[in-house]
Amino acid sequence: MTEPARESASPAKKKARAPRKAKAPARPRKVTTTLRVNGEDHEVAFLPHKTLLEVLREDLGLTGTKHGCELGECGTCTVVVDGEPMLSCLLLAVECDGREITTVEGLSTAQGPHPLQRAFADLNAAQCGYCTPGFLCASKALLDRDPSPSRDTIREELAGNLCRCTGYGKIYEAVERAAAVMRGEPVPPVPGIDPASPTGEVARGC
Ligand code: FES
Ligand code: FES
Repeated sequence: MTEPARESASPAKKKARAPRKAKAPARPRKVTTTLRVNGEDHEVAFLPHKTLLEVLREDLGLTGTKHGCELGECGTCTVVVDGEPMLSCLLLAVECDGREITTVEGLSTAQGPHPLQRAFADLNAAQCGYCTPGFLCASKALLDRDPSPSRDTIREELAGNLCRCTGYGKIYEAVERAAAVMRGEPVPPVPGIDPASPTGEVARGC
């Protein structure tokens, strides 16, 4: 007599198979690029999704450029790229290979601060200062292109930079003052500021 065929094990009794391990996604590789920042070449390796803002701050230690909204709305991350003001939070660092980048750290020279820095300090055009690097870079790009901008032009060119402390009047005045200095014109003294001091130190006794 033939033995009845054995019933196959019910699905519940089947030996549970270990779920297949999903392959870990390949980790993105760093790219190595030479960035020219403030007149110096920097060979730097970073993940390809990093923005110029992140690479400047995290890989090159240039923390003068500030993080703000990271959405292109506040302008605090503005740097100058090939003479144009650019939002570094919206720019991939890999796109900047071979381009000339200037950050706020590159504005001063051995002779002293940039006339814009001096004018912002002299006229109190900064309070907390968080927005100031972005304003300085946007203004530098403007004055390099147009040495005698009208108040309307300054207002228009800086419209993408937000300040929550100072109000904009002092900032526009500072840009006009710096433009005059750069054109070699005399500017009125500021009470309490020593005009001979390269850093605009407040005169003693005032
Ligand atoms: S941080 Fe770039 S625009 Fe706000
Ligand atoms: S000085 Fe504070 S945000 Fe502009």
